[in-house]
Amino acid sequence: MRFRVSYQLALGLFANIAACAGCRSVVSLEAGASCACTKLAAQYGDLVVLPDSSNYTAESTEYWDVRSDLQPGCIFLPNETTQVSSAVSILQSCGTQFAIRGGGHMNFPGSNNIDGGVLLALNSLNEVVVASDNQSVSVGPGARWVDVYAALAPYDLYCIGGRLKTIGVSGLTLIGGFHYLINKYGMTMDNVLSYDVVLGNGTQVTANETSNGDLFWALKGGGSNFGIVTKFTIKALPIASLSTTIQAFDESAVPAFINASCDLALNDGPDLAAGTVLSISVNTTTNAAIASLLGVQEGTESPPSRFANFSSIPALTVVNKVQPPLEWHSVLETPNQMFRVQFAHHTMKPDGAQLYRIYQGWRAAVQDVIDVEGLYPTFVMNILPKSAASVAKTNGVGNTWGLDDDESWIIWQFSTGWANAVDDLRMTNWARSLSDYWHAENTAKGLASEFLYAGDAGEFQNIFNGYPIENVRRMRAVRDAYDPSGTFTRLNWGGFKLGGE
Ligand SMILES: Cc1cc2nc3c(=O)[nH]c(=O)nc-3n(C[C@H](O)[C@H](O)[C@H](O)COP(=O)(O)OP(=O)(O)OC[C@H]3O[C@@H](n4cnc5c(N)ncnc54)[C@H](O)[C@@H]3O)c2cc1C
Ligand SMILES: *[C@@H]1O[C@H](CO)[C@@H](O)[C@H](O)[C@H]1NC(C)=O
Ligand SMILES: *[C@@H]1O[C@H](CO)[C@@H](O)[C@H](O)[C@H]1NC(C)=O
Ligand SMILES: *[C@@H]1O[C@H](CO)[C@@H](O)[C@H](O)[C@H]1NC(C)=O
Ligand SMILES: *[C@@H]1O[C@H](CO)[C@@H](O)[C@H](O)[C@H]1NC(C)=O
Ligand SMILES: *[C@@H]1O[C@H](CO)[C@@H](O)[C@H](O)[C@H]1NC(C)=O
Ligand SMILES: *[C@@H]1O[C@H](CO)[C@@H](O)[C@H](O)[C@H]1NC(C)=O
Ligand SMILES: *[C@@H]1O[C@H](CO)[C@@H](O)[C@H](O)[C@H]1NC(C)=O
Ligand SMILES: *[C@@H]1O[C@H](CO)[C@@H](O)[C@H](O)[C@H]1NC(C)=O
Repeated sequence: MRFRVSYQLALGLFANIAACAGCRSVVSLEAGASCACTKLAAQYGDLVVLPDSSNYTAESTEYWDVRSDLQPGCIFLPNETTQVSSAVSILQSCGTQFAIRGGGHMNFPGSNNIDGGVLLALNSLNEVVVASDNQSVSVGPGARWVDVYAALAPYDLYCIGGRLKTIGVSGLTLIGGFHYLINKYGMTMDNVLSYDVVLGNGTQVTANETSNGDLFWALKGGGSNFGIVTKFTIKALPIASLSTTIQAFDESAVPAFINASCDLALNDGPDLAAGTVLSISVNTTTNAAIASLLGVQEGTESPPSRFANFSSIPALTVVNKVQPPLEWHSVLETPNQMFRVQFAHHTMKPDGAQLYRIYQGWRAAVQDVIDVEGLYPTFVMNILPKSAASVAKTNGVGNTWGLDDDESWIIWQFSTGWANAVDDLRMTNWARSLSDYWHAENTAKGLASEFLYAGDAGEFQNIFNGYPIENVRRMRAVRDAYDPSGTFTRLNWGGFKLGGE
């Protein structure tokens, strides 16, 4: 018996070693960058940017969060897909640690940049082409959402992408994608018809419903675990007009504002596509809190009826318009490099009284860090209506979130900006302990969901803990089949990774 157990153990060990027989060893940051940067520069010259050049300064700060600014050994800016493929082969053969950047908005150090290693920056691969049948749009991984909406506009078309202007197409689509109109059309990932992917050995494949179907599924919410997507083909929708509303409220309106947000989550009404950006910011100079609604509804009915419960709250300002999607998105700026930022979030039932308690707890806790220079505290609510999950339930493909469509949720997030690196650990600990506390209370009250969204997550939140375990296992199996040597696990380790058994 004893022999048997240790024999199995030995076989298990052997299997592990065998499984990684194709793995190259991971070399030091410096040696890896030296090997790959030399080869890339020999092959692609000016597409490789080295430290101490003006291009390097510009590229290494092309991030939303100042914390993401790191110092890669070199930056490679491929100009065509085949160059991504040969770069991955070089990175793999050199054992180089590397980072991938799409639009650069994932907001923590190491998610999309790397000190000492190689940064593969996809900026130049930003081509957007509307299909001749007007049914889809193909998008390069360096594009921003405003580029996609601009390409679709002349055809009176639109698609389910990002809610603001310059968020990257790549990252948002790979992690899920909250748009305004998800209650009818589902998440951004549910609207992707096909992905072109460079695998860990440099091979290019297409993943769609009929080809590499398991990879097609895994890319819907599985992030950067499987390969580099070099083209997204996204469903185009015949939507020429949006009814929009921008409303601002003073702090006395916050209880009603939170209740109206819960009403919107509960009355998901998929017959009429509509959704929001909801936030409450504290001005640390005046100590005043301002709540704001960006509301968007499909069609021309103005003011948009789905936001009636907000419109009935006395407001500081209200601007209602009917406008083409491009015009709406074009003004929604989120400038890069405004501050250092920490996100932290959790998910709960739309319970107005409890959400208001959390808001009050956050409002009080802001005082604990009020001395932090450049403090910019925002309380954000993201609505996840149950009808958004129905799309994946019924489209024959599904997605890796595997959500049921019997309950609507609200994601509450603390987004906190500040000015100086000296406060980094303090702010991370502040956000983490505060969000964990309120999640624990929600859990005790039976109001919590374990669902996490990568777009709202702090670096300490393991988003895959919130996915159904069978989906995590299936994603790992897909990863092991498509990337057996672990290029996107061992060499590219930033962002959210699936981990091992
Ligand atoms: C101001 C702001 C507004 C936001 N608004 C929304 C919103 O409306 N809806 C929403 O859902 N989310 C939103 N988010 C979250 C956003 O979706 C994520 O930050 C997302 O990662 C952004 O994509 P990116 O391409 O800009 O990010 P990046 O940081 O470039 O990429 C994110 C991750 O994906 C990897 N990656 C990037 N491109 C590829 C590729 N082609 N192949 C493989 N891996 C790749 C990167 O290595 C990184 O780990 C917002 C974030 C910010 C900061
Ligand atoms: C370097 O910067 C110049 C000037 O902005 C630009 O024309 C060039 O394309 C950049 N090179 C790369 C590789 O990005
Ligand atoms: C990038 O590709 C475009 C289109 O193929 C080409 O016109 C341009 O010269 C290329 N730029 C570089 C720096 O290779
Ligand atoms: C696509 O849309 C354009 C602009 O609306 C139109 O001129 C063209 O006929 C459409 N093509 C098809 C195949 O429907
Ligand atoms: C999927 O991709 C393959 C390979 O490019 C292609 O032949 C096939 O037509 C595509 N299937 C669909 C449904 O688009
Ligand atoms: C908000 O809803 C709660 C119930 O969840 C209720 O007790 C409270 O009075 C409401 N507040 C406002 C301002 O509507
Ligand atoms: C905070 O309020 C002050 C005084 O009204 C104003 O000057 C400042 O711009 C506000 N700050 C922000 C971030 O809105
Ligand atoms: C407004 O809220 C009430 C419940 O408070 C709800 O019955 C109604 O459907 C909501 N209206 C809208 C347009 O969401
Ligand atoms: C690259 O990896 C894929 C997935 O594991 C595999 O199918 C393919 O044969 C590999 N190609 C080469 C050239 O090794």
